[in-house]
Amino acid sequence: MLGDMKPFKMVGNLYFVGTYRASSHLIDTGDGLILIDSGYAETADVIVESVTELGFDIKDVKYILHSHGHSDHTDGTPRLLELTKAETFLGEGDVKYISGWAPNHFYQDGQVITLGNTNILCIATPGHTEGTFSFFFNVEENGQTYRAGMFGGAGTNQLKKPYLNRRKCSWLNRGLYFKSVERLKKEHVDVFVGNHTWNNKTKGKYETMLDSVENPFINDAEWVPFLEKCEKDAESVILNESRELFVNYAHRGASHYAPENTFLSFYLGIYMGANGIETDVQMTKDGVLVLFHDKTIDRMTGQEGSVSDYTLEELQQFTFEKNGLTDKIVVFEEFLKQFSFRDITFAIEIKQPGTEKDIADMLRKYGMHNKTIVTSFSLECIQIFKEYAPEYRVGFLTREVNEQTLEFLKEIKADELCPFATIVTTENVEKWHREGFNVRAWGVYSEELMRNVYDSMADGMTVNFPDKLVEYIK
Ligand code: G3P
Ligand code: CA
Repeated sequence: MLGDMKPFKMVGNLYFVGTYRASSHLIDTGDGLILIDSGYAETADVIVESVTELGFDIKDVKYILHSHGHSDHTDGTPRLLELTKAETFLGEGDVKYISGWAPNHFYQDGQVITLGNTNILCIATPGHTEGTFSFFFNVEENGQTYRAGMFGGAGTNQLKKPYLNRRKCSWLNRGLYFKSVERLKKEHVDVFVGNHTWNNKTKGKYETMLDSVENPFINDAEWVPFLEKCEKDAESVILNESRELFVNYAHRGASHYAPENTFLSFYLGIYMGANGIETDVQMTKDGVLVLFHDKTIDRMTGQEGSVSDYTLEELQQFTFEKNGLTDKIVVFEEFLKQFSFRDITFAIEIKQPGTEKDIADMLRKYGMHNKTIVTSFSLECIQIFKEYAPEYRVGFLTREVNEQTLEFLKEIKADELCPFATIVTTENVEKWHREGFNVRAWGVYSEELMRNVYDSMADGMTVNFPDKLVEYIK
């Protein structure tokens, strides 16, 4: 049973032994074989037969290197381990993707794996997955030495938000991808090796090679253009999603029209067409999470003190008014009961330090992790929240953005940057996107600012007049 691609010698001691959908490569080191990627479980025997057809013995495979942990590169490994005593290698970040086997080694960034005449430089290039590694090694043909290179995870569909959500991955993987591409561009490559055949046009080149004296796999002009295309594809993913998945958050509800942070305001926002709700959470004196913005209650009630000075029952005595409309304070859990099932996005702002875990517990109770971003003006609050509830995405609200803040946000895995609307420019958004952040503006106090933010290709904004934004987007 041979696969849909004939096994063949690519260049020197490098051979193709995979299938059209999942490439596998064999290196004959003179002191044993190295296999790069094991394909799908159902095609593992294709690899075995390909190795045999090329005149090698599968038992001589000493190392199996995996470019990343997805099933099309790793699921063949358990079968191959039945037939060999090979040692296996994987990026540590990708253990979560594999099953049925455990790697013997995790790559170190910059590590060189040596066997026989072959030294493989392994470079960490995360993005496509967290533990993607890329490989560089020399091959010889007709007395010439060529440098072969493989980008271990080039695909950009895996940078799309729905995919990242499904696989419980950080949106920051996008930033890692751009960095990895930048790093790879610095490598010189004469023989571009694809871990999918469509990356380096393996099939076409093989067919060309059949009646050509030149080896089409030797071409030092392919690597960088390929990486530039990867970069463009990743940019397109982000820009397309910034339009298709743009979130128009009703800020404290449609708070331009109705008393803020009330059911009236939230329902009005949804009625106006908002596809997100932003609200502020605080805790009462008797430990109930409620939705309230200000530090003190005087603007809303005419009374002194703060939310934490009053019990829920006391707060419920107050009536909030705007434009002749009135409503009462909302208990966070009641809000979740009424809105959690909706197909909208929630921006939940932590207003009081110390309430992070209570907010997380409440969100967990309603299974909100796939539709919520928890935000704060306090880096400490989002750090505490994220450590306690890593399955939730968090965002940082800020008036200024500097490099130090961006690095800290990446460290704590904050997926979203929430800059003040006036600093949201096309140039800044492009830069923050390349760093990997979702960009959602706040402080949109005028319609002009609203239009600027939308046109800057940001991913969302909170706005008191979601109806105007709906109109503009139309
Ligand atoms: O969108 C976030 C925004 O609500 C932050 O400002 O003062 O309205 O809580 P603030
Ligand atoms: Ca807020």
